[in-house]
Amino acid sequence: MPVDRRWIGDAFPHRLPVGLRYWYFPPMSGEVVQHIAAGVYDFMMQPLERWRLGKIRTALLGRASGDVLEVGAGSGVNLRYYDPRRLSSLTVSDYSDRLSLYRRRIERLGDGGWNVPVTTAQIDAQRLPFPENSFDTVVATLVFCSVDCAPCGFDEILRVLRPDGQYLFLEHVRPTDGVAARAFDFINPVWNRLSGGCNLNRDTLQAMRDAGLTVTMGEISGESGSSWNDSGRKGVFVWGEGQARA
Ligand SMILES: C[S@@+](CC[C@H](N)C(=O)[O-])C[C@H]1O[C@@H](n2cnc3c(N)ncnc32)[C@H](O)[C@@H]1O
Repeated sequence: MPVDRRWIGDAFPHRLPVGLRYWYFPPMSGEVVQHIAAGVYDFMMQPLERWRLGKIRTALLGRASGDVLEVGAGSGVNLRYYDPRRLSSLTVSDYSDRLSLYRRRIERLGDGGWNVPVTTAQIDAQRLPFPENSFDTVVATLVFCSVDCAPCGFDEILRVLRPDGQYLFLEHVRPTDGVAARAFDFINPVWNRLSGGCNLNRDTLQAMRDAGLTVTMGEISGESGSSWNDSGRKGVFVWGEGQARA
């Protein structure tokens, strides 16, 4: 599909001074640096994880099956939420060099009964180095707020997904409420620089739909009464499943 040029060069990482670009996940390789950065990120995310994200990850990643690719894996927070009995293989990736970090975390999972082949890869979600129809599931959580060209990433995800494959996502997006949306627009330039490239006001759901994904929104089973209905959206966090439009 033709790419909307507004998505390109959105601010990350080119306009940031080098020191600020990757404050939460420095691009340096080296186990110690990556472990410290991952620890800081996980610590800072703890309140959100306890409040809501942990439950969403449980419901979302429990659905991953077959050959699975995760992009923008960050600290590897999702690893413990996969159900290894449902996976044939797992490729964990980020565009920064976190490979030693993932390997260490995966080794620890190995103690918990994991015997799924796991590959780690340093790749850009906008240019996936895999042939068409390679995966049954692609996962991205809290990634497309900072990918330079989100439509390019979704095109790539659709390309590597098998025809009946699923894209499992969790993102934060621009609020639907007018006042909150304008507040997010106002804060975004500052937040973007402080956060190392995250955008608070992207309409990532629409970008998924424009790319050709049919998006089904998730609800937390047991909490809301229904488990996987397209219920519209009220909050800032959206999660669910996308499939290639027939
Ligand atoms: C906020 S972190 C999210 C980490 C993790 N997925 C989570 O749910 O907590 C965003 C991650 O996306 C990665 N990222 C940003 N742009 C990317 C791109 N174009 N390709 C691959 N990864 C990217 C960053 O390196 C970072 O690790």
